[in-house]
Amino acid sequence: MSRDHATLLDVEALTVHHGQLCALDEVSFSVGAGETFAIIGANGAGKSTLLRALAGLHPPTSGRIVLDGEDITAVPTTERLARGLALVPEGRRLFPSLSVEENLRVGTHRARKGPFDIQRVYELFPWMVERRRQRAARLSGGEQQAVAIGRALVANPRILLLDELSLGLAPVVVQRIYGLLPELLSSGVTILLVEQDVSQAMRAASRVLCLLEGRTTLSGLAGELDRASIEAAYFGLHAESPERGGVAR
Ligand SMILES: Nc1ncnc2c1ncn2[C@@H]1O[C@H](COP(=O)(O)OP(=O)(O)O)[C@@H](O)[C@H]1O
Ligand SMILES: [Mg+2]
Repeated sequence: MSRDHATLLDVEALTVHHGQLCALDEVSFSVGAGETFAIIGANGAGKSTLLRALAGLHPPTSGRIVLDGEDITAVPTTERLARGLALVPEGRRLFPSLSVEENLRVGTHRARKGPFDIQRVYELFPWMVERRRQRAARLSGGEQQAVAIGRALVANPRILLLDELSLGLAPVVVQRIYGLLPELLSSGVTILLVEQDVSQAMRAASRVLCLLEGRTTLSGLAGELDRASIEAAYFGLHAESPERGGVAR
């Protein structure tokens, strides 16, 4: 895949409502092929709504989603998977009574051709081999997160949508999960991740966009944004506000 970050995903003035509530208000950004793009924002900012809209799980009120030059705004969910958008949802959402391998197999339905299959996932996570017949409910949070990632990978996505990988996991487990991303990138996957943990997002991503109550408050190169502007954008404070809560956990 191209490494020049030619645009792969274009989100144009995307607006999404939950009933009367405008959860996402004309949000626009582009993700380049082969990059890691992070959406940050506090709880309730609209991050999951955005990823779910991209995956086709929630219809937008207006705006467009363009994947590699094709308008997919009205394309159904399963077809989006076949076109290369795979979501690792917030809270993993495995089938608890299915085994590890059965959960992975779910992801192969409508899979694209590519480097990932169940065997390759076992190479990424060798511990899964022995536990492949164990029910997902018996896994730890970190192990479930790994299975959820594996389930998305076997679809051979062009873009992996990762919703709060770090949620509820111990820091060492979070580090291990995030440590995988460079390997995924080198196999040609583009990553769009969502995080409440700003420090984690800044470490992982080349570009970030901050949402506050459904609106973009900041976007730019991760290396070029200063802490004060990020905190202001994240909490909706003015830069000169004395209330500096500290973004990092
Ligand atoms: N299914 C839903 N029905 C009604 N309101 C929702 C639903 N999902 C999310 N919301 C509301 O939309 C806003 C954005 O939520 P969400 O996208 O989950 O934010 P985040 O992922 O950034 O925490 C919040 O105010 C939330 O309460
Ligand atoms: Mg969320």
